[in-house]
Formats: sequence, structure tokens, C-alpha cells
Amino acid sequence: MFSNASSFVEGVDIAFFIIIGISLVFLVGITAAMIYFVIKYNKKRHPKAEPTKDNFQLEIFWTVIPTLLVLGMFYYGWVGYRPMRIIPKNAIPVKVTAKMWSWSFEYENGKWDSLLIVPVNKPVKLELFSPDVLHSLYIPAFRVKEDVVPGIANVMWFKAQKEGTYNILCAEYCGQRHSYMLSKVKVLSQKEYEKWYNAKDTLAEKMMPGEILMKKQACIACHSTDGSKLVGPSFKGLYGSKVTVLVNGEKKEIIADDEYIKNSILDPNSEVVEGFPQGIMTNYSGQISEDEIKQFIEYIKTLKDD
Ligand code: CUA
Repeated sequence: MFSNASSFVEGVDIAFFIIIGISLVFLVGITAAMIYFVIKYNKKRHPKAEPTKDNFQLEIFWTVIPTLLVLGMFYYGWVGYRPMRIIPKNAIPVKVTAKMWSWSFEYENGKWDSLLIVPVNKPVKLELFSPDVLHSLYIPAFRVKEDVVPGIANVMWFKAQKEGTYNILCAEYCGQRHSYMLSKVKVLSQKEYEKWYNAKDTLAEKMMPGEILMKKQACIACHSTDGSKLVGPSFKGLYGSKVTVLVNGEKKEIIADDEYIKNSILDPNSEVVEGFPQGIMTNYSGQISEDEIKQFIEYIKTLKDD
């Protein structure tokens, strides 16, 4: 009956179906009673309204029954929820960074990916971190959802029970590209997972340090490298080009050189490119080193116009 993609599916679904079932019984019952009363106490049949006397038995009945029903719903909700808060000691820790507007997952050996890759039948603990605003990590197939709050070290865990690929969504409205803040969980067999975990990152070896940095810092969530316009201007053909920026509301033409790019990272709202919104980009001073900025500029230099 249950998909059992994770060990939480059954508990959550039982609570859900019990609540839906009780709600349906009441929906049908109350609607039927309403229709019955409308007919029975219609003015033609019942021209004079009469006061109803207290009915002690009825009052006991409609106090005790709903109390039991609500306690029952609470019980099944609690049974489904409790295991989510008891994190197994041997769970694989993964550091999750939620940032406007992308996810990144970092493993104990320093490996990272924009997909969450986990082995089947092993508990995985997600340590949630956000440097900017509220996000929420939601994996519907696993029935898990937890807020990612700046300044609060939230954790969640799950045990995937079926190999496959499942959606990850951001379930907390976090700005313009919230609905694009998506990723996937890939559940692999233990063998495949170990192979992936221990493999040298061939992709990362081919990438320039600045490009890796750009992915890690989620710059590409807002700035494309192919010329398309997202929330911020594209990096393609940027280096050395003429840019019109607004400085304190005044238009100014400048050349996108090292100094300009550095300033755009450390103090992004001082010179905003004309036509783009102010105050969207987070300030990266203290989060990125001088060396990293240099790597970054080296990479941007390679993104030339066709
Ligand atoms: Cu992040 Cu919505």
C-alpha cells in the first residue's frame, strides 16, 4: 500500500489517511444533516420556531467523541513524527547549504555536489545551513521537510529504502527564483555509492578553481555563463566590457575590470547594473578570500562573447 521510499512514509501516510478519513465522514455527515434539517424545518412544514431544551446526554456525547477523535489524530501524528527526531548515531552526515537560489551538499571527505547522493538503507543526517534567508528542504517522496534558518543549526534525517531519483524542493518562499530552487536525491546501492564517494572528482579536475567556486557559492543561480539574463547580469563577455551602473541613483559608465568585479562581490549594492534590481545580492565580504576573488576573475575572463 505504501511506497516506502523512506522509512517515514508509512507513519506519515497513516496519520494523513486517518485525518482525511475522519474529515470525509464529517463532511458527508454534516452536509447530510444540513440538507435534512432544511427540509424538515422548512417554514411551510414548521411555521413556528420552538426553543430547544438542554440535553445533557447529547452534550456529553458531542464533547467526548470529538475529544477522542482529536486525541486519536494526535496519537498517529506523534507516532509518525517521533522517529524523525531521533537521529541514529551512525547516520552519514551531509552539510546542506541553502542559498538564494540553489542547494549544495557537502560530504565528510570534502566532496560536494548540487545533487544529494545517498546509499540505500543507510541513515543520512542533513545539517542545514543558510547564509541568507529562510528556506525549507522538502523531499516529498520521503515525507520529510525542515526549515533552513540563518543562525539556527537545524538537522533532519532519513533512510532511503528504494534506489531511484526523487525531487528536492524549497518549501519556504525565499524570493524571486524560489520556484527554481530545485534539486534531486539520488539513492544508489551501497557499492555504487562508495564508488562515487571515493572517486576522484574528474569533473572538478577539469574545471577552473573559479568555476568550482562559482558553483559552490551558488553564483550561477542568479548569473548565467551563457549570456542569458537571470536575476543578475550574465558573466559572459563581461570582462573588459562597458557597463552602465547606478551609483547613488546616478548613471555612470564604467569598464568591468578586476576592481569592478571585486567591488561587485564585496559590496554588491554600491554599483548596480542599470536595469537590474537593487538589494538582491548578498554581501560576500568575509565569505570569500582575496585569492578566491582572483580565481573568480580568472574564470570570468575566459567567458568571452562569441
Ligand atoms: Cu529557497 Cu524558496
